[in-house]
Amino acid sequence: MAIIKVKDLEFEPYLTRENIKAQIERIAAQINKDYEGKRPLFVAILNGSFMFAADLFKEVSIDAEICFIKLASYKGTKSTGQVITAIGLDQDIHDRHVIIIEDIVDTGKTLNEFLPQLMHQQPASLALAVLLHKPEATQYPIAINYLGFTIPNKFVLGYGLDYDGLGRNIPEIYQLKEQ
Ligand code: XMP
Ligand code: MG
Repeated sequence: MAIIKVKDLEFEPYLTRENIKAQIERIAAQINKDYEGKRPLFVAILNGSFMFAADLFKEVSIDAEICFIKLASYKGTKSTGQVITAIGLDQDIHDRHVIIIEDIVDTGKTLNEFLPQLMHQQPASLALAVLLHKPEATQYPIAINYLGFTIPNKFVLGYGLDYDGLGRNIPEIYQLKEQ
């Protein structure tokens, strides 16, 4: 892995395919144990989590389902501010064991608003599988049940994560280089 340039920015190697694979296998093994006989429903949040979701789901060996949603934020009223809605959640999650798959928790704002909405539908349980967490950036409390990596507060790209639409296809994770 070498330094790469995406548009105007330089990124340096951070997590290798092997690093990522090892964490995913660990998470999947734990989920296989925790959800045996529960037929969990994975809900992957697009776009960023598509690679993580695919690789994680391949390691899940118990009966499980998966669906993919997109979160859209729009301007609500003055009191509600930004409102986040899920597009494509057509499964009934009532009484289901739901595991959200997300690429990265940064400020935590997105999930902090979205998870309570899901709780309204009364799933049997709700857990969060997140590949990357930037604790230094997190301003909203988020309980992550299955975490790949704790990372510093630097912009990352690759493995589904993009910079202005580019870099999602890179199989490793790169970190923004001090320019
Ligand atoms: P919050 O702040 O709500 O945001 O936790 C989470 C979403 O922000 C995006 N995000 C990033 N995307 N590299 C990216 O490519 C990053 O370093 C990064 N940090 C946050 C991402 O879409 C995530 O779902
Ligand atoms: Mg995302």
